[in-house]
Amino acid sequence: MTDANPGAQTFTLDRVVIGFEPGQTVLQAATRAASYIPHLCWHPGFPAHGSCRLCGVKVDGHVVCACTLQAVQGMVVQSNTDELNAQRKKMLQMLFIEGNHFCPSCEKSGNCLLQATAYAMGMEAPHFEEFYPDRLVDASHPDILLDFNRCILCALCVRASHDVDGKNVFAIGGRGIASRLLVNSESGTLADTSMTLQDRAASICPVGVILPKRRGFAVPIGQRRFDHRPVSEPEPGEGP
Ligand code: SF4
Ligand code: FES
Repeated sequence: MTDANPGAQTFTLDRVVIGFEPGQTVLQAATRAASYIPHLCWHPGFPAHGSCRLCGVKVDGHVVCACTLQAVQGMVVQSNTDELNAQRKKMLQMLFIEGNHFCPSCEKSGNCLLQATAYAMGMEAPHFEEFYPDRLVDASHPDILLDFNRCILCALCVRASHDVDGKNVFAIGGRGIASRLLVNSESGTLADTSMTLQDRAASICPVGVILPKRRGFAVPIGQRRFDHRPVSEPEPGEGP
């Protein structure tokens, strides 16, 4: 199998030839070629953040993040291996126990990147002991609900609010296990920010933290994005 762009430079991803344009990362080129590399904090509309580490691939014996790795002519990249997928599964299990994820009652179930990626990596149980952290729900805003229990700290809302909306509604505070998402207002609540439902930040969350109020389950379970296609398969219109 080869990429549709014969003039491009190429690297191999799990022995599949992938074309790329100069300046593209391995994850960008792979996504364009409809080759799946698991990822959580990367979004095609934003610069790479490099925080979730799920996109780790092996090049020359070293594990590096595909979302920040510049593609190089002739590079040999391994991604879909038992070793890397076992590491990804462990990272996903850690993410599940660090927050409070009750998928059957979550409005994002079936549209959730964390849930879909866990399925793709064959995760059937959290494996580790749950932390059950004490996290808030912020229902102060008239149109938007924040359920911090599900936050995976991908920082996409931080970037969308700053880069696209020209606001600074969100920030990540603390370090390590104490890291958490903060709302930038004097009261610390969303009602005291300028955020609106039209903001890019209101629709960017890959999990079920930032949700519009009064729109619960408008699309029934069973008819959502990942109910039809696993995350490893591109959406119609994506890919080569
Ligand atoms: Fe990411 Fe959503 Fe948490 Fe923002 S609220 S950091 S978009 S998981
Ligand atoms: Fe690369 Fe998160 S997608 S580190």
